[in-house]
Amino acid sequence: MTDSNDRDPYNLFAEWMKEAEQSEPNDPNAMALATADASGIPSVRMVLLKGIDPRGFVFYTNTESRKGAQLLANRNAALCFHWKSLRRQVRVEGPVEIVTDAEADAYFESRPRESRIGAWASLQSRPLEGRWELEKRVAQFAAKYAIGTVPRPPHWTGFRVLPSRIEFWRDRPFRLHDRLVFQRAEGTDANAPSWTTEHLYP
Ligand SMILES: Cc1cc2nc3c(=O)[nH]c(=O)nc-3n(C[C@H](O)[C@H](O)[C@H](O)COP(=O)(O)O)c2cc1C
Repeated sequence: MTDSNDRDPYNLFAEWMKEAEQSEPNDPNAMALATADASGIPSVRMVLLKGIDPRGFVFYTNTESRKGAQLLANRNAALCFHWKSLRRQVRVEGPVEIVTDAEADAYFESRPRESRIGAWASLQSRPLEGRWELEKRVAQFAAKYAIGTVPRPPHWTGFRVLPSRIEFWRDRPFRLHDRLVFQRAEGTDANAPSWTTEHLYP
């Protein structure tokens, strides 16, 4: 956590992600995503970070899933990365927005054909009577889209978490860990944020 990184959380995040890509056995981009329903009751699950730019952190999912319904009802989320082998954690909090259709289309088109069929076949988070039911839906959509491109389902898109707070945590001996918090400065544009920083007791 050098001085120059103290001023831009995205530089520091990029540096840590690069190290995680080298150290983690798989999915260094995996992050816990916490959402809450309209009454504030939380739930959490893992998703993959699929885009990052100065506006925020993007993941893709089914908007009719449990998390999708919660995010549409309560447009706030928190993310947590934990890179075990580096003994590091990054926490991100903020409101969410839906990515543009162009952005979602571009990512959807980059996915393997089988994953695109899967996005149509899966009624994510809803009850499944048996594996056969899913396999039948996969076969149905594979037949429907046998020729040409597989379009992006209307219920499948990306959400961008626009951080109001990002915290970097690094293990230090005797539990005297380093904690560095970036807060988006009051009134600054989410598209070009400026940040205040502070260190916290472990
Ligand atoms: C490492 C990992 C990565 C995952 N990535 C995603 C993802 O990017 N998008 C997604 O919808 N589900 C992903 N999942 C599955 C979710 O954890 C979850 O089971 C699913 O999205 C349904 O969650 P929900 O019922 O809360 O909506 C991932 C699971 C794991 C373990």
